[in-house]
Amino acid sequence: MADEKSRGSDQELAERPARRLAGKDLLGIQGLSVSDIEIILDTAESFKEVSTREIKKVPTLRGKTIINFFFEASTRTRTSFEIAAKRLSADAVNISTSGSSLVKGETLIDTAKNLEAMNPDCIVLRHSAAGAPHLLARLMRVPVINAGDGANEHPTQALLDMFTVREKKGKLAGLKVAIAGDVLHSRVARSNIYGFTKVGAEVHLTGPPTMKPPEVEGLGVQWHNSLRELIPEMDVIMMLRIQLERQGGGFFPTLREYSRFFGLNLEALKKAKPDVLIMHPGPMNRGVEISPEVADGPYSVILEQVTNGVAVRMALLYLLVGGVE
Ligand code: CP
Repeated sequence: MADEKSRGSDQELAERPARRLAGKDLLGIQGLSVSDIEIILDTAESFKEVSTREIKKVPTLRGKTIINFFFEASTRTRTSFEIAAKRLSADAVNISTSGSSLVKGETLIDTAKNLEAMNPDCIVLRHSAAGAPHLLARLMRVPVINAGDGANEHPTQALLDMFTVREKKGKLAGLKVAIAGDVLHSRVARSNIYGFTKVGAEVHLTGPPTMKPPEVEGLGVQWHNSLRELIPEMDVIMMLRIQLERQGGGFFPTLREYSRFFGLNLEALKKAKPDVLIMHPGPMNRGVEISPEVADGPYSVILEQVTNGVAVRMALLYLLVGGVE
C-alpha cells in the first residue's frame, strides 16, 4: 500500500488487522505485505458467495461513490470494478478519455482535482503512463486504486490470479508458476512476479530473449529460453498477451514463429502435469500465445479468473473505502 491516508490506533490494528488497509491506496503489489495479501484474499473468499445469490447485493458501501477513471481500453477490469461497487451498494461512475474534457486538453491533475471536488470515496485509475496512479494518490485525499499503469503494475489482476490459484490448489507457497510470453511489456507479469514470489511460490519466466526484462535477475525468478522444456515441471502456466500496442515491432520475426516456439497448444500441453492450471489475464490473441483448444480446454481457469476478479475487487473496495467497522 502507498502512503497512509487514515488508519486506526495500534491497538485497533492489532485487534482488527483488516483495518490497516482502510483509507490507503493500492498502487502496486510491491507495496503489499504477505499479511495484506492474505487479508485481501480471505476477504474476497467471503465476498465470492454474494455473486451467486439471486439478489447479488449487500449494503456494505451504501452511500459511497466510486469513480472508474479509464484512460485505456478495458473490458474485464472496468466492468468488474463497476459490478463490484454495485454489488456493495456503492454508486459507480465511469469516465473514459473520449467522454471527458481530457479531449479538450485538460490535464490529468486538473481532471483529478475536479473529480475530487465532487467528493467521491475512491478513484480507480487505468493509465498508459507508468506512475500515473502514484501521482494521483499524492494529490487525492481518497484511496486510489491502480487498475493498470503502462508496463508497470496491474495489482488487482495479480490478486485475482493468486486468489484463483489458491482456490484451486489450496495453497500458494511452494507452487511452481510459469509466466510466459511478452514479459518485457507486461504489467500483469510484473505484479504477478512480485505477488507469487512474496507468498513463497517459485516463479519461472520464459519468452523470446528479446522480451526478457533487463531487471529479471534481481527479481528472485528464473528465466528460461524454452517454454516447452518448462512445461512438465509447472503447477501453473500463465500465458501473456503479446502487447502489440506497447512495442515498436522487431521483437520476433513473425506471429507464426512466435506461436510455434512460445504459444501454448495441445501438443505442448501433453507433457504437463495432470492437474496443471492454465491461466491468461485476457484479452487473448487466440492462435498466437494460446490455442483455442487450450484456452477452452479442461485445464483452463481463464473464465474463473474473471469471476474471481469481481470478488477480489469487492474485497478491495470494502477494505480500502471503509467498509471495515
Ligand atoms: N486483464 C485485463 O486487465 O483485462 P482488461 O484490459 O479487459 O481490463
